[in-house]
Amino acid sequence: MTTPPLLDAFLPLVADLTRELPEAERYRRLLGALRRLLPADAAALLRLDGDTLVPLAVDGLSADTLGRRFRLDEQPRLRALLAQRGATRFASDCSLPDPYDGLVEGLSSQLQVHDCLGCPLYLDERPWGLLTLDALDPARFDGIDLATLEAFASLAAATVQVGERISALTRRAERDERLMQAYREAADRQGSHELIGQSRAHRRLLQEIAVVAGSDLSVLVSGETGVGKELVAQAIHAASPRAHKPLISLNCAALPDTLVESELFGHVRGAFSGAVTERSGKFELADGGTLFLDEVGELPLAVQAKLLRVLQSGQLQRVGSDREHRVDVRVIAATNRDLAGEVRAGRFRADLYHRLSVYPLPVPPLRERGRDVLLLAGFFLEENRARLGLRGLRLSAEAQAALLAYDWPGNVRELEHLIGRAALRAMAGGEQRRILSIGAELLDLPAATDSEAPAAAAALAPATGDLRQAVERFQRERILAVLEVHGHNWAAAARALGMDRANLHRLARRLGLR
Ligand SMILES: Nc1ncnc2c1ncn2[C@@H]1O[C@H](COP(=O)(O)OP(=O)(O)OP(=O)(O)O)[C@@H](O)[C@H]1O
Ligand SMILES: [Mg+2]
Repeated sequence: MTTPPLLDAFLPLVADLTRELPEAERYRRLLGALRRLLPADAAALLRLDGDTLVPLAVDGLSADTLGRRFRLDEQPRLRALLAQRGATRFASDCSLPDPYDGLVEGLSSQLQVHDCLGCPLYLDERPWGLLTLDALDPARFDGIDLATLEAFASLAAATVQVGERISALTRRAERDERLMQAYREAADRQGSHELIGQSRAHRRLLQEIAVVAGSDLSVLVSGETGVGKELVAQAIHAASPRAHKPLISLNCAALPDTLVESELFGHVRGAFSGAVTERSGKFELADGGTLFLDEVGELPLAVQAKLLRVLQSGQLQRVGSDREHRVDVRVIAATNRDLAGEVRAGRFRADLYHRLSVYPLPVPPLRERGRDVLLLAGFFLEENRARLGLRGLRLSAEAQAALLAYDWPGNVRELEHLIGRAALRAMAGGEQRRILSIGAELLDLPAATDSEAPAAAAALAPATGDLRQAVERFQRERILAVLEVHGHNWAAAARALGMDRANLHRLARRLGLR
């Protein structure tokens, strides 16, 4: 007994159901089965997307067909196919234009399709898409029983449904895993704590945070390096109605230009070399919550354009995909650049700047916060005391005066690191059971209040060795000093040195700093 041909064609597809296949491959195999079953020159599977048919897989049609979009109001033939629940065959002299005319492979572009049939696919009683078959010979489909095509279409619909469910589940699992990772990273990130301070400038900042947190406005947090911009962004999210949803961060300076886009919007498998699996972007992960775009001034111009589009429409596409996702994301951006100046210089898009800075929130530098320096020093002293297992750790009166007199080019982060170093020095020189006092000498503050001092000292070091060695020594010390001030943020250090980031990396490697 021979197996009936329909079942024959279909068995491999049923076997495929339990395999993990990319959607495109599943659709391609489906068409392959259809062509083995029915003698056509070309076949296509199209998905209905609003009023447009999108080809998902084609067989026997030129490759560019996959890029075409067939609008129903321009395609009476496809419209007629969708209007019937069952299969339709067009008469060979039917005057309706065929969307595939000139697209059938291996034939001169003049040749027209002469025999054409198709059948809609229904999922949950709604039209999902179409299967079409074309032949150049007007009598090719003469012997075909339309019921065979209809049977195939309903089996195909079931395959499509299972395939879509599997893909949706895979996507959800992948997204959940990325979310968990984001939560873990956020929990590990130190610095998510209370904003310390009492100065007038500080209180004004807290007030602004309280005002803007309740809204959904985009906030642009600006300020010098180390002032606490990230902490401010966390505080806004925590005080917002989105606090129970994730705060997802992306440091726009930390990634090469080519990866920023996929990190933001995600990508589909095969979108570029290295994209071995489908991946959701930070935008999708932040859905319902807040997306923190740190160092937003570093975004490449091409990505700025795409970001603007997503912010305006709320729709995003993964790199390499034409499917749109709707997202509900509140954006907080931060920069230590003068972004308005960047706009004037043509390095940042004006429209994106206005879209991001609906609520501008400048964070004042530490030197404008008066005695907050001492409060913050106290906070960091306590952190270090606990970490080092000390009984007590405090500052001498001269040390306090020195902190108040300094102008803090590296702001709170510089203070944090300075206290950390001083605590270690104090511990090395004292006994753990005692209350240790940090004197001004242990703070090792630059004598002059300009950050040029260490570099100048390096330049004046005894002139041993040849000129090249002296220059390299100077470069090494200068780079280390600037890195220290900028909390080892290479992008910020490169800016402060007036260098391109890539050049700084290269130089640092040559000098053995990386
Ligand atoms: N008001 C504050 N109270 C307590 N800690 C603070 C305060 N402001 C900043 N910090 C701490 O100072 C460090 C630097 O802060 P943060 O990373 O938020 O600065 P930033 O402005 O984002 O710096 P950069 O421009 O270099 O990215 C962090 O460890 C943060 O926790
Ligand atoms: Mg920061």
